[in-house]
Amino acid sequence: MCGIIGYTGKNDAKEIMLDALELLEYRGYDSAGIALLGEEGTRIYKRAGRVKDLRDLCAKEDPKGCCGIGHTRWATHGGVCDENAHPHRFGRITLIHNGIIENYRELTEKYGLEGKLASETDSEVVAAVLERFYDGDPYSAIRRTVLKLKGTFALAILFDDQPGKIFAVRNVSPIVAAATKDGAILSSDVAAIVPFTTDYFVMPEFHVVCLSADGIEMFDLSGDKAQIDWLKVDWDVSRSSKGGYPFFMEKEIMEQPQVIEETILPRIKDGKPDFSEEGIPDQILSDCKRICVIACGTAMHAGLVGKSLIQAMIGIHVDVVMASEFMYNDPIVDKETLVIAISQSGETIDTLEALKFARKCGSPSISIVNVKGASIARASEYVIYTNAGPEIAVASTKAYTTQLAVLYLITARMAMARGLWSEQELADYVKELSRVPRVMEEVLSQKEEIHRLAGTILNAKDVFMIGRGLDYSILLEGSLKLKEVSYIHSEAYASGELKHGTIALITEDTPVVAVVTQDKLKSKELSNIREVQSRGARVLLLIKENEVLEDDERFANVFRLPVMADAFMVMPASVVLQFIAYFVSLDKGLDVDKPRNLAKVVTVE
Ligand code: F6R
Repeated sequence: MCGIIGYTGKNDAKEIMLDALELLEYRGYDSAGIALLGEEGTRIYKRAGRVKDLRDLCAKEDPKGCCGIGHTRWATHGGVCDENAHPHRFGRITLIHNGIIENYRELTEKYGLEGKLASETDSEVVAAVLERFYDGDPYSAIRRTVLKLKGTFALAILFDDQPGKIFAVRNVSPIVAAATKDGAILSSDVAAIVPFTTDYFVMPEFHVVCLSADGIEMFDLSGDKAQIDWLKVDWDVSRSSKGGYPFFMEKEIMEQPQVIEETILPRIKDGKPDFSEEGIPDQILSDCKRICVIACGTAMHAGLVGKSLIQAMIGIHVDVVMASEFMYNDPIVDKETLVIAISQSGETIDTLEALKFARKCGSPSISIVNVKGASIARASEYVIYTNAGPEIAVASTKAYTTQLAVLYLITARMAMARGLWSEQELADYVKELSRVPRVMEEVLSQKEEIHRLAGTILNAKDVFMIGRGLDYSILLEGSLKLKEVSYIHSEAYASGELKHGTIALITEDTPVVAVVTQDKLKSKELSNIREVQSRGARVLLLIKENEVLEDDERFANVFRLPVMADAFMVMPASVVLQFIAYFVSLDKGLDVDKPRNLAKVVTVE
């Protein structure tokens, strides 16, 4: 979704902003624009299309200036056109905005703006209200405007008569800021800051920040100076480049052994899972009567695997709730419900809102987040960071498997805290978990074989993915991956449900991907596979390498997975499914990293 950048200092702001907007492209967008505040006043360049189109537009005039704001827009209010692209200007005010102003119609009416606005956006209305309140004091204008706004916003603002200064304020939608060698920078996203510095801070809500070549100042809404809490990014710039791969998605799939190791190893002490660094007391794991996982998309699929693990190994009830549906089902969460919020970005608005609701109900909470200091991390009682590094491809891969790694650790620590496992059982589990990176490497080394197998579904219109239990959970994620990057319609189906209707859709033109990794489910899963084969379906099977297939002539396309304990088979199987989706997209010639209409960070409901 929308990306924000602002730079002020001694260098050419235009180049800095255009480069940063390219780094923010992965968030998903349909238009881009910049505004420069320089000797020639405020100049705006914006257009619907890609950042490279904006670059071409700027190249024609080559405007100069050392202070500016830039934006990639993901349309919500108003169609995709040049006028609706940001920055927006009204009077002496120029701004960019992420979020949604819910009361923009009332504000339009109240301040008589009908017919005076150049765009259809809610954002331009904010510029008009700021202009109304601006009497030479930016802080007071911002304060008075913010008090009128309902909704979510991250605003970066230029005032014509405040040269070299960028002002910012936010509610819910994130802004991070940092001092550079010769000025200051702000962004919606740490990725745009990493090329300049590793020290940054997350702007607190309802605070006003002023960036200038001299540094950064922050005030609360009553005008008192506020202290900045600095954080450190723990990834380097090379993590944000493709590193020789054609797409980030491939690079990120390949990085999994390393990032899983980096997620697990620091949390195993004396051979035992350990969350003392995170300050998580055992009591929170031992006392809860049930668990409610809230998350969206891929993160929710990680939660489903967590549910299988925890219910099987700990014996307590786990609900996994789509965060976007959470509020509509009269959620039952209380002091005895441990809420686990899972999110790569840490900014998914539905997950954030659901988490806040659960906390109001008194639920203890742990979040599993990738981006340090993100809103969900700050809104939860405890946070466990996945050390996946920046995930740039829209389709989540390494974030998913590192989320799983954390869920494996939580399960083991919970078993310990409840005294459920013997020393030996715990040691065996930790040993198996520690094998995951090596086992994944084994799968990754067979990338070409997976590429060949992906070819068997390349031209399909529809694909079914079938399995039971944990295999079904893995396939929900595998199917989402295929849909989002290849645009092939794919459905993950619990194989036992097929006979209740959907089997009617299975024909010789519908490839079926089947995963069989759980001993206790194997015979049932294989008979379900026979049923679809009898209807002419070609089956691509993922099965453990030590399994003997009685009628193996039926299976032309089989991927043999390295053997792990059943509970861990999710890891090698997931890598294969990620690569299948990747290769289908690649061979279709699609933009693998930026699937159409999708945004990496979903900050609107
Ligand atoms: C799919 C994907 C999305 C995200 C979902 C939640 O590949 O990436 O389904 O998993 O939008 O995002 P986070 O994890 O940032 O909360």
